[in-house]
Amino acid sequence: MEIFQSQLNRKLSEALAAAGFPPAGDVSPATDPRFGDYQSNAALVLGKKRGENPRKIADAIVSRLDVAEICEQPNVAGAGFINFTLKREAVEKKIAEMLHDERLGVASATSPRKIVVDFGSPNVAKPMHVGHIRSTFLGDALARIAEFLGHDVIRDNHIGDWGTQFGMVIWGWKNLLDLESLKRDPIAELVRIYKETNERATKDEAVREAARAELVKLQAGDPENYSIWKQCVDLSMREFSKAYELLDIHYDIVRGESFYNDRLPAVVERLLKSGLAEMSEGAVCVFFRDIPELVDKPCIIRKRDGGYNYATTDVATVDYRINDLKANAIWYVVGAPQILHFKQIFAIARREGYTADFHHIAFGSILGADRKLMKTRSGENVPLHDLLEEGMTRARAIIAEKNPELAESERNEIAKVIGIGAIKYADLSQYRMTDYIFSWDKMLSLHGNTAPYLQNAYVRIRSIFRKAGAVSLREAPALSEPAELNLAKRLSQFAEIVPQVLNDFRPNILANYLFELANSFHTFYEACPVLKADEPVRSSRLALCDLTGRVLQRGLKLLGIDVPERM
Ligand code: ARG
Repeated sequence: MEIFQSQLNRKLSEALAAAGFPPAGDVSPATDPRFGDYQSNAALVLGKKRGENPRKIADAIVSRLDVAEICEQPNVAGAGFINFTLKREAVEKKIAEMLHDERLGVASATSPRKIVVDFGSPNVAKPMHVGHIRSTFLGDALARIAEFLGHDVIRDNHIGDWGTQFGMVIWGWKNLLDLESLKRDPIAELVRIYKETNERATKDEAVREAARAELVKLQAGDPENYSIWKQCVDLSMREFSKAYELLDIHYDIVRGESFYNDRLPAVVERLLKSGLAEMSEGAVCVFFRDIPELVDKPCIIRKRDGGYNYATTDVATVDYRINDLKANAIWYVVGAPQILHFKQIFAIARREGYTADFHHIAFGSILGADRKLMKTRSGENVPLHDLLEEGMTRARAIIAEKNPELAESERNEIAKVIGIGAIKYADLSQYRMTDYIFSWDKMLSLHGNTAPYLQNAYVRIRSIFRKAGAVSLREAPALSEPAELNLAKRLSQFAEIVPQVLNDFRPNILANYLFELANSFHTFYEACPVLKADEPVRSSRLALCDLTGRVLQRGLKLLGIDVPERM
């Protein structure tokens, strides 16, 4: 099932060729529905290039455009835009096809890729910060969408389970650990001992030295320290897993930093041997003398004291993902502060001859009401777990008010879907690079661009069907009312929107589409009675309702968000 947009693109390039013009861009959705459904600025582009009148060029193109199958006669407007308005019959046909299609018209990628998505990746024994939370939501949504489009996706949790912090953690474990607290809230206790040791170390040379000695012992394979380290990793993983379960997030592999530890010496040797790295003031560095923005930013891959670092691990990680996992694309969903780091890593990989697609999918921050980085009242990172709990508690109160009849167990189930959906959606509906202010009231509102609003639209549709009794959906709905036609056109755009998300890794495009779909549905529902309509209009409208519900459900699921049957 070809989408309208690519059908029009094909026709446009045929017309351009017939008129003797070179290719000149694709059609895009109309900016203003009064002008139609799609538009092309090809004539403007060509006019500028050739110094000719764009309107004349537009006329020449239009006279060779053969789109009668799906569009009214295209018209030329303004300085030379070509506008396309879909024919009602074409939309009706599309809707009939969608009704029978599990994939709702979304085609599979023509060249599927093997993509490693590196997302979430929290650090053991350090507080998970909101950067990890954003990465988790964003990475999961992108992985779901890539998978739906037919790519082979490997979700990898690159946890920070190795590194200098373990010197402090082990010293803290041996000197400060409170076993009761560890049992109650392992991550909080690990964070506490890490922080307290860190504080002591800044003040006290002896503690600093002792922590360093613990790290050296760990790296040398000392059994006691290794066992403490292992317990820290296991306890943390267990806690992360609880959050992942609540969030419905799954990983295919967890290859933390420690996994690459014994590969690091060989990485540095190799880079030295190939001349990509060199000794500089006792450290091993890669210089980027030919990359203007990195000229004065060498990447250290072995420190002066012989230790390896985050960058060394990432170079080894590239090897593993490409040589062992056979990936041809790697997506790193990591906050904007690491832009420089990934530029360096990708530059090294390219110099080593790797041709895979590397993408750093960066994102901005979550802010508190004071427009500063979101923190707890005492200035700590907000634990993910607390955030999720609060979301569910607040959702429970809203549902209790909206629908007091619901049984307690059902209310809790729904509160989970609404609370977690609201948090995820607040994040995913923003352009990833923008910082946004975290606001419970806003994200849980039943009005506006929120998950509860979309979930409520879905619930409304389900309730129509509960009231409708036994229905047979009309195979080929008739779209006689403007609100019906408008809703149907929106539905047909789902297949255009989903693949677009991956062009620049923007799930917000899908979120905004779903919001507009829900708006079109409400307009339709107000203008067009469904259950009270006579046949065959009734079953035709029910078919539109059904399709809207399915697109909402599928679209939200691609963002990692569920829908309740009632709320
Ligand atoms: N653990 C890292 C951090 O908290 C994120 C890891 C991202 N992935 C990577 N391959 N470097 O900053």
